[in-house]
Amino acid sequence: MEAYDPSSSPNTVDEDSTATRRDADTTESARANRGWWDRNADEYQIEHGTFLGDDRFVWGPEGLDEVEAELLGPPEDLAGKDVLEIGAGAAQCSRWLAAQGARPVALDLSHRQLQHAQRIQDGSAIRVPLVEADAGVLPFRDGSFDLACSAYGALPFIADQVRVLREVHRVLRPGGRFVFSVTHPIRWAFPDEPGPEGLTVSASYFDRTPYVEQDDEGRAVYVEHHRTIGDRVRDVVAGGFRLVDLVEPEWPAWNTQEWGGWSPLRGNLIPGSAILVCERDDRA
Ligand SMILES: C[S@@+](CC[C@H](N)C(=O)[O-])C[C@H]1O[C@@H](n2cnc3c(N)ncnc32)[C@H](O)[C@@H]1O
Repeated sequence: MEAYDPSSSPNTVDEDSTATRRDADTTESARANRGWWDRNADEYQIEHGTFLGDDRFVWGPEGLDEVEAELLGPPEDLAGKDVLEIGAGAAQCSRWLAAQGARPVALDLSHRQLQHAQRIQDGSAIRVPLVEADAGVLPFRDGSFDLACSAYGALPFIADQVRVLREVHRVLRPGGRFVFSVTHPIRWAFPDEPGPEGLTVSASYFDRTPYVEQDDEGRAVYVEHHRTIGDRVRDVVAGGFRLVDLVEPEWPAWNTQEWGGWSPLRGNLIPGSAILVCERDDRA
């Protein structure tokens, strides 16, 4: 196995693990990521909690807010809608949805992330149901939701994208919308660095080999899965959806904050996030 240049890593790699590119299947990815998010949830919420807010709906490090984007539809139409948030983390987006009068359910794989959701809710008038589960096996009946959403939740971490999309399709009602954001595929060709060193292509955009951090015994402790733009479109269609829009948020002048490899410098030159707006295709 060829050593992977850690300067291209999407994370600060833990001292006792190494970064590489190798296969990682559904089970290994889920196990590794549950552990990683449980171990790192505290630090993640300390580092990003203020930016995310307790009840804001932010689509990614650019800071695009659902209030302005309206990708789930006009806020006034959200009232009374059943919404599933996948990979909800501390459920900030779900609390924003609840404040609009929607009925969100916040689902996440990580117990510790959901404990942060509970911590925020304990001090808030806005509470949403929290569900600990894997996005690949959604514990809901067919046709339970009008809308589904995911702001960088689950999809970047899952080996079998189509399986998740089919699950979301199953639990949505006919015509239901699923909007999800992920790292923009072009980012995988560049080192994950916020400065000038992150501006030179260092890997093939076409290399879909998962990014894996592993321990001394070769056990994955963190996994991310890369898809090209074309793969994303094909996955959405194979999952039973129509792609309505693909939003590439531009870096706004007000946002001077860096988030890992996302920064004003890089954000002004190349996209950092891709948001796929999909609707359940009920023509078949
Ligand atoms: C980057 S966070 C996004 C959460 C929130 N939107 C935010 O911006 O903080 C990714 C979340 O996806 C969750 N996740 C990863 N793999 C998952 C899976 N297979 N099923 C459900 N959630 C998953 C993680 O536990 C984590 O809370």
